[in-house]
Amino acid sequence: MLQSALMNVMVKAARRAGRSLKRDLGEIENLQVSLKGPANFVSLADKRAEEMLYDDLNKARPDYGFHGEEGGNREGTDKSHIWIVDPLDGTTNFLHGIPHFGISIGLQRDGVLIAGLVYNPANDELYTAERGKGAFLNDQRLRVAGRRQMNDCVIACGLPHIGRGDHELSRREMAALQPKVAGLRRFGAASLDLAFVAAGRLDGYWERNLQPWDIAGGQIIVREAGGIISGIQGDDDPLTTGHVVCGNEFVHAELVKIIKPLG
Ligand code: IPD
Ligand code: CA
Ligand code: CA
Ligand code: CA
Repeated sequence: MLQSALMNVMVKAARRAGRSLKRDLGEIENLQVSLKGPANFVSLADKRAEEMLYDDLNKARPDYGFHGEEGGNREGTDKSHIWIVDPLDGTTNFLHGIPHFGISIGLQRDGVLIAGLVYNPANDELYTAERGKGAFLNDQRLRVAGRRQMNDCVIACGLPHIGRGDHELSRREMAALQPKVAGLRRFGAASLDLAFVAAGRLDGYWERNLQPWDIAGGQIIVREAGGIISGIQGDDDPLTTGHVVCGNEFVHAELVKIIKPLG
């Protein structure tokens, strides 16, 4: 895989923040965990990782804007480019010592995603994509899975936790999908759910009420791996609605057909 200068910047930044997260994973008891809302945790690990990403990305591209989950916001002098960053996606997993979490970086130019990265430092899996250049896991080219029967498919979802989302709607969605598929999964890191769809590990994924930083890095990776990703309506933009449905063309259409009428 030939990496552009831009992707090099993203990879270097993610790897440095990833080393910080790995160090912090070994010291969960010292991370000064606080709550932003019910079950909505934030810790020193999230904040340190975001600071590093902010510094590295700003150093490399001082004009670009920056929008990060933990408050690192900056309007750039270059109004067309903006980084959308989740420094630690899957904080709840992280704080429980579950090594399934990611760093997510998306880059938008004039409102269009042109590059994305999702990195799990715990197993050193690095997913990258640039517009028109394909998607990769480390240096291996990615393609979404080809299954066309829902009963062969493994589908991931997000479940709203205490204090967030519509729990009744979520139960209806699960009840509608469960009898139709080979398996439902809930892994707890939206960016990695998207990356797993791109890698063909998951056939599809849906979740409501996400934030742009959960989605931006993974969205372009799914697209560049040949997947379809939209909001619940099937043709809307997940970055504006916060809702995501994705899979190959067939699975995406089936998921929309099942989920859309429920709410
Ligand atoms: C969360 C994770 C989780 C999803 C939540 C997100 P965070 O992000 O992506 O899988 O279900 O909605 O908020 O807060 O751990 O970065
Ligand atoms: Ca969070
Ligand atoms: Ca997140
Ligand atoms: Ca986060």
